Amino acid sequence: MRKIAVLTSGGDAPGMNAAIRAVTRAALDKGWEVVGVRQGYLGLINGNFTPLRARDVGGVQQKGGTFLGSARCKDFHKEEVQMEALRQLNSEDITGLVVIGGNGSQTGAHALSAMGYPVVGVASTIDNDLAGSDITIGVDTALNIALEAIDRLKTTASSHHRAMLVEVMGRNCGYLALMAGIAGGAEAVLLPEVPTTPEALADQFRQAYQRGKMHALAVVAEGAQYNVDALIHYFKEHKAQVGWDVRATTLGHVQRGGVPTAYDRLLATRLGAGAVDALARSENGVLVGWLKGRVGTTPLKQIVGVQKALEPDLLQLASVLAK
Ligand code: F6P
Repeated sequence: MRKIAVLTSGGDAPGMNAAIRAVTRAALDKGWEVVGVRQGYLGLINGNFTPLRARDVGGVQQKGGTFLGSARCKDFHKEEVQMEALRQLNSEDITGLVVIGGNGSQTGAHALSAMGYPVVGVASTIDNDLAGSDITIGVDTALNIALEAIDRLKTTASSHHRAMLVEVMGRNCGYLALMAGIAGGAEAVLLPEVPTTPEALADQFRQAYQRGKMHALAVVAEGAQYNVDALIHYFKEHKAQVGWDVRATTLGHVQRGGVPTAYDRLLATRLGAGAVDALARSENGVLVGWLKGRVGTTPLKQIVGVQKALEPDLLQLASVLAK
């Protein structure tokens, strides 16, 4: 009989609930006891635990967010705070921890595992910036939300013969913007990985105008060198150079809310169950992710602080399709 804890940390991602459910039921199936930690690492250092039985995770997989709650715990990089977390886990006789989250959360997981505690991470962030997983929990839902917004913006843009800027999340990673741009048929994508200028975007818009398009749309990653506020400021001052009247929309946290797609529920379920399997194999200090079409593990020490690169082929495709 073993007792494990599960927490969700950092920015929430649609599918986290399905991952908690999978961890819980896969562990119960092994005859283990499961404890949920409320509010991520913050709850861990405060001993904010709640027992999770099969019925406690019933009907959660179709809900966005995380019913355990999440937090950004800035103090967790301090060794004394990590020691307090271990003290809380040990005082409850908890012998393993599953951390569902993105880059910052997995850095915390790595710190605890480096102190000798059995920890397994589950790759979950809408940013898809986590090395060790080809795709992470929440990306598909966030992308679909961005696409729905883009489709709507294009209809009104066509009616008014306007250009639209739409800013998507992703922190320092352009994945969401690039994929939304390709799938949404954007005329341009602005990414942190590919520095550009307002002048270059104005040029792309002007060319689209000259080609006779009814609208033009640029997807701007929040981490791009120029965000939509800076771009709209430029376009207001250089209207004649652009050809279009330009409007801007920032999607922000809308992308993190809402019902997880089937893909995210299934991914989260497989990774959650995979985390329990990893603990059962005593494979500690690893991230459970989706690698080449199956559940796989990567040592946390190999992935923390590593920025996942964008595929050059996709960058090229975005530019070809924008014509
Ligand atoms: O990491 C997920 C994410 O949504 C990023 O895309 C974004 O930069 C950040 O979190 C926003 O964080 P917060 O919700 O703390 O404002």
